[in-house]
Amino acid sequence: MNKYYKQLIENNKNWVADNLKIDPDFFNKLADGQQPPLLWIGCADSRVPANEIIGARPGEVFVHRNIANMVVHTDMNMLSVLDYAVNVLKVKHVIVCGHYGCGGVQAALGNQQIGLIDNWIRHIKDVYRFHNEELSKIENEKEKFDRFVELNVVEQVMDLAKTSIIQNAWTNNQPLHIHGWVYDIKDGLIKDLGVNFENNSQLPIVYQLGI
Ligand code: CO
Repeated sequence: MNKYYKQLIENNKNWVADNLKIDPDFFNKLADGQQPPLLWIGCADSRVPANEIIGARPGEVFVHRNIANMVVHTDMNMLSVLDYAVNVLKVKHVIVCGHYGCGGVQAALGNQQIGLIDNWIRHIKDVYRFHNEELSKIENEKEKFDRFVELNVVEQVMDLAKTSIIQNAWTNNQPLHIHGWVYDIKDGLIKDLGVNFENNSQLPIVYQLGI
């Protein structure tokens, strides 16, 4: 068998041993169940590992990742994760975390056809159209790309707030905060974009449910 592949199993054994050295009950406690306070919706990019960049331990973060950290309202996978996180696990926070240099967002800026993924990227192109006025004014390509990454996160936070799952939690007075972050691959730091929702009053009225 290939050396790299074998090493993965070795790494796992070492990881187990390291954890047991610190806390002999580590895995026993996790086996009892999970009560993570946080749902993370992030990019599938290998450089943005949810737990690691926020120093979270196993059991702390419920994670959903896809290309360009999208909240697509017909995505059964995302909706199932969100429903379980909000209604069963009762997470207190949902964070959408994008990242600068995102390949998905870059693809959305261009006109090249890649394949099936073009249909996923289409949702990011919609974000460009919503913010065409601001984005088309930015001449510097890097600045435009960075701002597009940020605006995409803002839109995904809005799309989260629009879901019936999140709005029903708020209607039922379940404490639930949703946030938008951007991670910088170059220095490892997170930028909080300051888009925070804890009720649906900031949504355009046409999206508000149950009022
Ligand atoms: Co990405």
